[in-house]
Amino acid sequence: MLKILTNPDPILRRKSQPVADVSAKEIQELIPQMMEIMLRKDGVGLAAPQVGKNIRLIVIHLKDETLALINPKIIKKSIVKEWGEEGCLSVPGQYGEVKRCKKITVKYLDAKGKPHQVIAEGLFARVVQHENDHLDGILFIDKARNITEIE
Ligand code: NI
Repeated sequence: MLKILTNPDPILRRKSQPVADVSAKEIQELIPQMMEIMLRKDGVGLAAPQVGKNIRLIVIHLKDETLALINPKIIKKSIVKEWGEEGCLSVPGQYGEVKRCKKITVKYLDAKGKPHQVIAEGLFARVVQHENDHLDGILFIDKARNITEIE
């Protein structure tokens, strides 16, 4: 069973490496395990470094759909940004407002290695940006205002 690392674990601060082979056993096993723990913890997203793997892989759960994004790359960002409340499974009990691009275009490979390019807006865009930050060692608390602690 995977364990979620919490701040200040140094693994969360490392820059993650691209996945070289999507079909590798390690990756194919990791994706469903990450989805399972994300759903169990009621998360809307989870990045591989949060489970101790410094690789560029994120999973997202929105509107009853789960999605794996491998080697995601945000290739276009809207000029318009908006503030929104965020939390993170690796920063338990803390919430804050983060300014994110309202609309982005993200390129990625799915779990079968097939390339996709999608336009994400609103919460979907926010989650992709939050999870993509994890791949670069960035936590939402680095960018947040009005951080509150909830026991
Ligand atoms: Ni997070």
